[in-house]
Amino acid sequence: MSAIVVIGSQWGDEGKGKVVDVFSAKSDYVVRYQGGANAGHTLIVNGHKTILHLIPSGILHPNTKCIIGPGVVLDAETLVREIEALQKAGHLNDPSQLIISESCTVLMPYHRKLDQMREEKLKNEKIGTTGKGIGPAYEDRASRRAILVGDLFNDKTLQWKLEKSLEEKNYLLKNLYNSEGFKVEDMMAQLREYAEKLAPYRTKDTSLIIHKALKQGKKVLFEGAQGTLLDLLHGTYPYVTSSSTIAGSACIGLGIGPGKIKKVIGITKAYTTRVGSGPFPTELKDEIGTLLRDQGHEYGSTTGRERRCGWLDLVALKYAIRINGITNIAFMKIDVLSGLKEIKVCTGYEIDGKVTDEFPISVDGLESIKPVYKTLPGWEEDLSKLTSLEALPRNAKDYIQFVSNELATPIDVVSVGPDREQTLWIKPLFHD
Ligand code: GDP
Ligand code: IMO
Ligand code: MG
Repeated sequence: MSAIVVIGSQWGDEGKGKVVDVFSAKSDYVVRYQGGANAGHTLIVNGHKTILHLIPSGILHPNTKCIIGPGVVLDAETLVREIEALQKAGHLNDPSQLIISESCTVLMPYHRKLDQMREEKLKNEKIGTTGKGIGPAYEDRASRRAILVGDLFNDKTLQWKLEKSLEEKNYLLKNLYNSEGFKVEDMMAQLREYAEKLAPYRTKDTSLIIHKALKQGKKVLFEGAQGTLLDLLHGTYPYVTSSSTIAGSACIGLGIGPGKIKKVIGITKAYTTRVGSGPFPTELKDEIGTLLRDQGHEYGSTTGRERRCGWLDLVALKYAIRINGITNIAFMKIDVLSGLKEIKVCTGYEIDGKVTDEFPISVDGLESIKPVYKTLPGWEEDLSKLTSLEALPRNAKDYIQFVSNELATPIDVVSVGPDREQTLWIKPLFHD
């Protein structure tokens, strides 16, 4: 029995896709359990880039099965496109490689539209969502109006649910947002088409599949989307996403007991980024921030938006370690820091003249803090071609060691470039 949860320990885009792809070589199952097509997980193999929004990042390994569990809000249009693109590139030839739970919420075009209209109306107070309809789709699930994947295969139920849903959504779109509504017949035709394409992948009970796999001693990876500080309950609310992004969410999103989780790997960028609005204590609005964005190619994988960049924040990371129960860290993008004379790391927050290393979770608290930094010496060397940890420059080794010591958490993997091969291992993943 070995289930491992991989989560983002910052504000998303830490490199989860890359790590899951690398770990997938030794995994039997890779499972998505929350979020939706707001995620953009990048995999680079021999210089070829694949960006996945809904399909788990194990899909490039033909012997690894990929499951989309009930906690995901599934945008059928995006999923069909993603499947077709993968097949065109020579992957997913065997339909049994992808398994989709019939209990997933279907994310509809009206969810996307409502999300975008709401943001537009917020003007200067935008959350900065991805516009993928995530909030409205989870709202429907919570208010028990959602259309589920299973409904796509039952015309009568689908028609009835769609009529009920559109009655309300069209009212909002027309009267509150001054926009066009959707027609039941058009949507039925579109959804039937998607249903036909998704039929080979659907299954009733993904919890049972995972349960049996674990019982047989199979290796299972749960792939988180977004990041800890975007968690609906524990993130920088209201500047968060609409699902639980922390490790415990894997149990809820999949129907798996907490006792089955053996390890929680916190994917951690060697600096910090954030897309969208909301507090970001270590943000750099100067030339170093620009340099990190340029060297790190920090543009959103889903929306292409510029990512805000800043120094590594150990206060926020300690909070992430606590609320996820992170047992091990994968330290990403350290190559991006090459060429900096000095590297700063935030070790405390000064609030009203007092320094703390406890993360103040309210947005008000976060906006008034002053980060306290420890300055470490940088290095000049290009790290992207290194093949062993021993070859890292002394100052890069010291940086990694400092972070691991401060966080009292082992760093198992160091990533020095986006490609699968640019990965330096300290410990193999499934060690005991
Ligand atoms: P995810 O959402 O956590 O999967 O991360 P994204 O794919 O959205 O963003 C991470 C970006 O960094 C992608 O463009 C990756 O190809 C890239 N990347 C991942 N690891 C590394 C690394 O170690 N070094 C560099 N330079 N780029 C990396
Ligand atoms: P991955 O899985 C980074 C952010 C959005 C916005 C907030 C709410 O690639 O790390 P939403 O569309 O979810 O309602 O937007 O959350 N956000 C992400 N930021 N990486 C992601 O996913 C994100 N998914 C959502 O930018 O600030
Ligand atoms: Mg991403």
